[in-house]
Amino acid sequence: MTTTNRHDNPEGALACFKAELTEKDFEVFSKFIYSEYGIKMPPIKRIMLQGRLLKRIRELNMKSYSEYKEYFFSQAGQEKELLHFLNVVTTNKTDFFREPVHFIFLKENILPAFQEQDTKQLFKVWSAGCSSGEEPYTIAITLNEFQRLNPLFKFQITGTDISTQMLEKAAKGVYPMTKVATIPLELKKRYLLKSKDSANPTVRVHPLLQKNLVLNYLNLMESSYGVKETYDVIFCRNVLIYFDRPTQERVINKLCQNLKKGGHFFIGHSESLSGMDVPLKHIKPTIFEKI
Ligand SMILES: C[S@@+](CC[C@H](N)C(=O)[O-])C[C@H]1O[C@@H](n2cnc3c(N)ncnc32)[C@H](O)[C@@H]1O
Repeated sequence: MTTTNRHDNPEGALACFKAELTEKDFEVFSKFIYSEYGIKMPPIKRIMLQGRLLKRIRELNMKSYSEYKEYFFSQAGQEKELLHFLNVVTTNKTDFFREPVHFIFLKENILPAFQEQDTKQLFKVWSAGCSSGEEPYTIAITLNEFQRLNPLFKFQITGTDISTQMLEKAAKGVYPMTKVATIPLELKKRYLLKSKDSANPTVRVHPLLQKNLVLNYLNLMESSYGVKETYDVIFCRNVLIYFDRPTQERVINKLCQNLKKGGHFFIGHSESLSGMDVPLKHIKPTIFEKI
């Protein structure tokens, strides 16, 4: 006679798993994600959330979405499960040199103007919603390149996100080869280190790119960010898109409290600030200056 358990009989595990996130349970999660994290989750996303939660529910050896819901909203769940849940519900797509117009503007306009003004000050950049690090590392490449020509130039980059899984990836700075195709060859040679494992070709970012980078958990929905620094540039790209308009406006106003007068604010190409009451002047599409 042979015996099986859930792990060596996945069909059996599925058979006892109630594989539907009901509309009612979805609505409970959706309301929570929206009120706590500003992320819109309309009914059309139910099947997506169901799919994304499935792996986590299996990891916890639970039998249904409602069992997971009970646990999630219990005190223990709120203490232990919240970060896992955020890793599941956030959309983290990103790339090196994504929307390159911002890095060109940084290199050709912002940095030369900063250098003319005051070379002793630290140049500070915030990547809000930095995901797995491609954005802050692209900023770091751009600033390191400028520093090569201007040795007195000093900078600091802060990357923040609510996904701890993404922040861990960012801190590691290891990416599959396929991920770095958008980095120009000369910069790849200077700032990436190839792994020796030919079966699993990865690259590691050069420690130079990590030297001036700080990564932190920060929920943009918090009433106050507790950030003391004021920044020369804030990247908040492809994050606002998940929030509704009033939330976007509130988030931008809060971020602007930490942006220097005359500092620059970048948003993603599918985002817009038109009609919003925010202290930003439009310079070019998706590029703004604090007034
Ligand atoms: C699509 S990625 C964009 C990454 C990068 N900025 C870019 O443009 O390539 C959006 C990121 O925003 C983060 N995010 C979503 N809601 C957030 C919130 N309330 N506070 C902080 N970060 C959030 C997600 O975890 C995700 O990593």
